[in-house]
Amino acid sequence: MKKTILLLPLLINISSYAHAIPLEVLHWWTAPGEHEAQQILKNALLAQDIAWQNFAIIGEGGESAIRVLQMRALSGNPPDAAQIKGPDIGEWAKVGMLEEIGKVVDTRPWKAIMSQIARDTVTFDGHYMAVPINVHRVNWLWLNKKIFTELNLSIPTTWDDFFITADKIRDAGYLPLAHGGTVWQDALLFESMAISLLGADKYKKAFVMHDEKILNSAEMIAVFKKFKRLNSYTSQDLIGKDWFNAAHLIATDKAAMQFMGDWAKGMWTASGKVAMVDYMCVEVPETRNIFSYNIDSFVLFQKYNYQARNNVQSVFVDTLLSKKFQAEFNISKGSIPIRNDIDMSQFDACSQKSYADFNSYQLVPSFTQNLATTSHLQNIIAQILSNYFNDPQADATNTVKRLSLAIRAVK
Ligand code: GAL
Repeated sequence: MKKTILLLPLLINISSYAHAIPLEVLHWWTAPGEHEAQQILKNALLAQDIAWQNFAIIGEGGESAIRVLQMRALSGNPPDAAQIKGPDIGEWAKVGMLEEIGKVVDTRPWKAIMSQIARDTVTFDGHYMAVPINVHRVNWLWLNKKIFTELNLSIPTTWDDFFITADKIRDAGYLPLAHGGTVWQDALLFESMAISLLGADKYKKAFVMHDEKILNSAEMIAVFKKFKRLNSYTSQDLIGKDWFNAAHLIATDKAAMQFMGDWAKGMWTASGKVAMVDYMCVEVPETRNIFSYNIDSFVLFQKYNYQARNNVQSVFVDTLLSKKFQAEFNISKGSIPIRNDIDMSQFDACSQKSYADFNSYQLVPSFTQNLATTSHLQNIIAQILSNYFNDPQADATNTVKRLSLAIRAVK
């Protein structure tokens, strides 16, 4: 008797989801924190009778995921949806494989609930070609609270302060900079420094418009030189390790600082760490009221008659944009909602600051997160930055020349 009662809820669950329509989604949210956020998405869809079919490809920043997607699409078998961001959306739209979101749901209300930047990011040729889901801030510096308190350190607000602080941390036996030595992370480190030293306008001219004058300027050479100085504060043990391996050292009080987007917060939340109690979010030194943004979005592939499949596409889009989901997902992911009508009091102090800054700072698209260029060009730029960072002999002036030539060749 007891057994039957215990099994009953399980049976009800299974039978009510047996008819759920499968939806295959490509993404790269496989790190701790990202995984929890993805589960929230999966459960929200299941409650709407959509069965999430995981097509997850491991690899920070999604480089491998995009490659696998290209192969699947070329063989005529794309998934139903994929995590595609920024200018890449246009590349997929150009080949005519994407569903126009305006044909799937009524997008007229988007104007009232989303910022212009969010809408522009998913627009190609005047049409919405992806559904945006969140805003991540990339130019953050994260500090370990315990180490900063123990060593009585103040928050570095200039690069000079930063290097002095990093020396003190090293002298005390802690790792100053938690940094996994991968191409993607090296590029992210460079981007943080470039935004702060160049300022928003020159950063955009260089990395969005690819203006050769700025790319080849003395200021750019100075950015490269300072960027290289960061290398001596990282650990050889983290060469080739993902961002979350580095973030783990912040969580376990072994490293004091990390430059990373706020998806790192998602990981710390998942491991029970609390913003401003265990770690602090501060602006990258000399950040000049700039917010570098990364907007995650999903595209839908044109595959078959979705109306005949319970409108699975429109339910997907509506679920992602529902108020309840926007709050739950973004609290878990570390990002802020894409909607501007969500109660931010339920978010932590870092997200509240991110939200306020997003609405008042100068916004620049993060080129390392594929918001400024296609992932193809971005990968080439990142490789040049990373080679320079890791080669003690590499010279800033030559690298700057190589970078602008490479951009010219690929564009
Ligand atoms: C970014 C993505 C973020 C986060 C990060 C690390 O490209 O937009 O949501 O997942 O990669 O994997």
